[in-house]
Amino acid sequence: MTETKTIDETPQGARKVYIKTWGCQMNVYDSERMAGLLQPLGYKAVDVPDDADLVILNTCHIREKAAEKVYSELGRLKAHKQAVEDQGREMKIAVAGCVAQAEGGEITARAPQVDLVFGPQAYHKLPEMIARAARDKGEVLETGFEVEDKFDTLAVGRKADGYSAFVTIQEGCDKFCTFCVVPYTRGAEVSRNVDAITSEVRALAAQGLREVTLLGQNVNAWHSAPPVGDDHMGKGTWGLGELCRHLAKIDGIERIRFTTSHPRDMDDGLIAALGEEEKLMPYLHLPVQAGADKVLKAMNRGHTGEHYIRLIERIRKARPDIALSGDFIVGFPGEGEKEFQATLDLVEEVKYGSAFSFKYSRRPGTPGAGMAKQVAEDVKTERLARLQRLLEDQKNDFNRAQIGRRLAVLLEKKGRNEGQLVGRSPYLQSVHVLAPDHLVGRIVELDITGIKANSLTGSLPVHSAQGAEEKVS
Ligand code: 5AD
Ligand code: SF4
Repeated sequence: MTETKTIDETPQGARKVYIKTWGCQMNVYDSERMAGLLQPLGYKAVDVPDDADLVILNTCHIREKAAEKVYSELGRLKAHKQAVEDQGREMKIAVAGCVAQAEGGEITARAPQVDLVFGPQAYHKLPEMIARAARDKGEVLETGFEVEDKFDTLAVGRKADGYSAFVTIQEGCDKFCTFCVVPYTRGAEVSRNVDAITSEVRALAAQGLREVTLLGQNVNAWHSAPPVGDDHMGKGTWGLGELCRHLAKIDGIERIRFTTSHPRDMDDGLIAALGEEEKLMPYLHLPVQAGADKVLKAMNRGHTGEHYIRLIERIRKARPDIALSGDFIVGFPGEGEKEFQATLDLVEEVKYGSAFSFKYSRRPGTPGAGMAKQVAEDVKTERLARLQRLLEDQKNDFNRAQIGRRLAVLLEKKGRNEGQLVGRSPYLQSVHVLAPDHLVGRIVELDITGIKANSLTGSLPVHSAQGAEEKVS
């Protein structure tokens, strides 16, 4: 029986983790992996348990009395944990490995000093478990992640202008997708209360705002108590659907959007609101990331491809003209040609109006970075090109389908060319039109006449070309 201690190098002032390893080479490897996974959360591996903040017993079940040995080690640690707590510090004890797998909950029943028990299948969730445990206590983890990350800020790309603005209603994420740093950098899901949101939107509307985009990393996880004295919608807790219906009543607000949604939080109330509330725009950014269930599982997405397709069917039933947008990652670890093909198949089935797609990039400290079967860079590049060709074709098809239609466009500002204004269609397409300046800030019906690479061109219907009779709100 071997016993190893894992040592690692991390910055000073870090938290300390002591990992005691029993058993085979596999366990030794796993301990190193656990130390590596914890490093970005600020944990430095040490070789004595004395002043450790976290002790992990990585156990082995192969020898007789293995469990008894773990329990006697836990007995020693119990006294130590007590002594540490008496000094006002904290020490967490975790049991990992095969004994944990075999004994499960019995361990915490027999040894209540144990905080976490997890088997080898759950190692990739270690950062999640530690981050959750720390958050439950209101602690802030000093992580090695860069907080300003392009993925964090992606949704905030568009600047507010006079007629359209972003309002943050939710922050943080509890989903812990295995590729993503957001749950570590932005913390747990928090919803802003209805009154604060309502006052901000009212104030913006008073300044002339026509369109609001509700923002959140997981915007449709938003929930809150209804405003005092205003629970006429009959719900103890409001979800995003109720919030949108409520904001739709604010004078001046003509359009409501929200981003970014997660398939798991797309509830019936929100789908019904999309179908019934005309001010909710028929555009939904609903990332799926990949099509193959094996990849979705490794990503910890909590849904299958089938769930997503059925969800889209329900949304389209409620709002037949909705335009869908998504995020995709190609080349996640374990994605072979077959799995990538499943992503293409899903895209073919859903038909997107627009999309963002990325090559998987290894974010140190996220579970995905440590996964086996990383995909070669050139394979990712080639797959991304194929996926983007398909998405580009779908975008162009969708845009082309608007030609000949009359769309309500919120004219936001002057365009680059003389006499030109630029606005947004209900589907978030950019629309260029020759129109008089006084129409800026109005929602105007335009006849769509053509498409460009990233926009539509439109013209004022003949009866309103003079700008007097525009069918506006
Ligand atoms: N590699 C590639 N794409 C990523 N995203 C987030 N993390 C990664 C990563 N490690 C993408 C996801 C997400 C979008 C905002 O950024 O598609 O939905
Ligand atoms: Fe990141 Fe979005 Fe997954 Fe949250 S739901 S972990 S923000 S990709």
